[in-house]
Amino acid sequence: MNDVKCSGGRAACTLVHLSDFHHCRPSGVGVAAFRNKRLLSLLSWRLRRRKEHRPELLDRMSRAVAAEAADAVAVTGDLTHLCLPVEFDEIRERLGALGPPQRVFVVPGNHDALVPVPWDKGLGRWAEFMAPDSSRDRGRFDFPALRVREPLALIGISTARPTRPLSATGRVGEAQLERLEEILHRSARMKLFRVLLIHHPPAAGMVSRRKALEDADRFAAVIRRTGAELILHGHCHRLCQAELDGPRAPIPVLGVSSATATAAHPLKRAAFRRICVGGSAPDWRIEVHDHVI
Ligand SMILES: [Fe+2]
Repeated sequence: MNDVKCSGGRAACTLVHLSDFHHCRPSGVGVAAFRNKRLLSLLSWRLRRRKEHRPELLDRMSRAVAAEAADAVAVTGDLTHLCLPVEFDEIRERLGALGPPQRVFVVPGNHDALVPVPWDKGLGRWAEFMAPDSSRDRGRFDFPALRVREPLALIGISTARPTRPLSATGRVGEAQLERLEEILHRSARMKLFRVLLIHHPPAAGMVSRRKALEDADRFAAVIRRTGAELILHGHCHRLCQAELDGPRAPIPVLGVSSATATAAHPLKRAAFRRICVGGSAPDWRIEVHDHVI
């Protein structure tokens, strides 16, 4: 990865990445809402995870991210914890604090699809933040969602789907992979800096099998053929870096910690990343800055 200075006027644009709010709001909800996989997530919240996440950190995070005035803000899923309609509503407000929907781009995580929820009570509440440029209303659309913010092509992929209890896996699926390949080829012809947003890490060995991307091999094969300039993910709750093979050079795969994490370890504490992009195709340069909250 070559360097480019964020300051000094050489960066073409800046991108902020944050993830995994795990906003949990179980109060005021009838017991019927928990006669499903939500019950296990509620138990894990009460036993362990509520000590690991502090919702008030999101206020500090929002202020810090807004102060960056980045060209784009990428948010890679698991914004709710129990996939409850009230959580989707409250997160909608939080996303608004990060910036306008035209600038803030979201993909869902496994917790945002913990159980099936009607579109208008769940993910549809964030439609403006997830929609591709081609979507004109709050109706459903297909992923991948492409947003062109020159020189960036931001490509949102959904790996979120309900899975069996104790599983936190994700899947891109054949239809999405097919469209992804076409979008990546097209945006390469337009000489754009292609950034993929995906919740589950697509590189091997970053999470356990219980949390893995099931079709990571198929995803990696697409990337090997088409290339991409950068892949951003959440899910592993730590600042991390890996690579996937591209047609010409390795492609950086960057993960970020949970935006509400209180961990003692600096790589697991709440943070966002600022990524400066400079140069032009095919000689892009990026510089990555970690901001621990
Ligand atoms: Fe996750």
